[in-house]
Amino acid sequence: MAQYTESISFDYRMWRQDIRGSKAHAAMLRKIGILSAAELKSIENGLDEIAAEIGEGRFAWSEALEDVHMNIEAELTRRVPAGAKLHTGRSRNDQVALDLRLWMRDEMDELVPEIMALQKALVNLAERERDVVLPGYTHMQRAQPVYLAHHLLAYVEMFARDADRVRDCRERANVCPLGAGALAGSTLPLDREFVAKRLGFVDVRGGARVAANSMDAVSDRDFAVEFCAAAALIAVHLSRLSEDLVLWAGAEFNFVGISDAYTTGSSLMPQKKNPDVAELTRGKSARVIGNLTSLLVLLKGLPMTYNRDLQEDKERVFDTMDTVRRAVRINAAMLRNVTVNKAACARAAADPALLATDLADYLVRKGVAFREAHHAVGSLVAAAEKAGKPLPALPMEAFKTAHSAFERDALDIFNLEAAMARRESFGAPGTAQVRRQLAVWKKRLT
Ligand code: ARG
Repeated sequence: MAQYTESISFDYRMWRQDIRGSKAHAAMLRKIGILSAAELKSIENGLDEIAAEIGEGRFAWSEALEDVHMNIEAELTRRVPAGAKLHTGRSRNDQVALDLRLWMRDEMDELVPEIMALQKALVNLAERERDVVLPGYTHMQRAQPVYLAHHLLAYVEMFARDADRVRDCRERANVCPLGAGALAGSTLPLDREFVAKRLGFVDVRGGARVAANSMDAVSDRDFAVEFCAAAALIAVHLSRLSEDLVLWAGAEFNFVGISDAYTTGSSLMPQKKNPDVAELTRGKSARVIGNLTSLLVLLKGLPMTYNRDLQEDKERVFDTMDTVRRAVRINAAMLRNVTVNKAACARAAADPALLATDLADYLVRKGVAFREAHHAVGSLVAAAEKAGKPLPALPMEAFKTAHSAFERDALDIFNLEAAMARRESFGAPGTAQVRRQLAVWKKRLT
């Protein structure tokens, strides 16, 4: 029974938050006259001692005491008699809801700057290689040329939304459940605002943010689901970036090299340099997505209010946080150690077929309807394929046959530098646009 029901093996991680919460609760009990000043002092000292011992790894956790809350409270009571008064007006139900909110708040506050460091690594790589042009792909087929910087900045945008989602999630998690008791509050005159303020559950104007319904306060885990959803998106974005890197690092693309520190060899094939960090990031996204699903399934059939099932929430949240923070951190480090193979990128970007759409736009500028221009260039592409030649190597007659509006200057379209300068609408991968976006991000991330 003890083995089956215990949570101390994982919820010990919330010991700092549990002690912080107990101190705030004790201070409130003093304020409303339930503890004497001396009792409060002895509780505070006792908790400080216990915190120091846990911090130094000298505290003996007991499985028989089930969880972090009972372990700490029982030890406190063993040391100071006033410890027996600490749980006045409190239940483990509101206590665990509080601890988890505090724990997530602390971790989210560290995660956001880590996401920004990842964005910085992407921006720095984009800046360093800002002249590199690559084929952009749809359907995994070469489509149109883009700057590598533009490709990388696409991920910077995704991670910006991810950081916003985490901040947003923090906002909603930042409500104090303490005082809700087991489910129905207390008959004692608890000062919930005092506790909330002490624990930093405040709005922008410093006003206390207290859960307004005691039943909701002990049974709600929305904040955990929201975080796991935001984290699943981070994991998915990282997984897609990883997939790009795995492809690019292979001999078929050969666009980038990943530093040895972030690759591994094969135990059998001496030539191998495997992009394990990228692969594991792709792989670990599965458990982060799974954790979100687990939490939703955990909650969906629960009647009001607290049910012991909820103990299963923590490992999902902890694993999500650990996995995502590690992934964000190591990917930022790996990106700082990526080299770009300019020659291979230039060779791929020199494919004139990438500018077939520009050729259609050329006809549009001569007054041809786009559908007609698309068809004309299509027939030209077919002719080039048949002749086994690149588009610009076709004779002028072939252009004229495809459409009478083609003139000599049509060949100018295939100048890649000019082509990149032409893409000037907002959000496009044009030279000036990408420089502007790089400047915007550099400023935003400092
Ligand atoms: N370890 C429990 C959990 O994680 C704490 C709350 C226990 N409450 C109770 N009534 N048994 O949910």
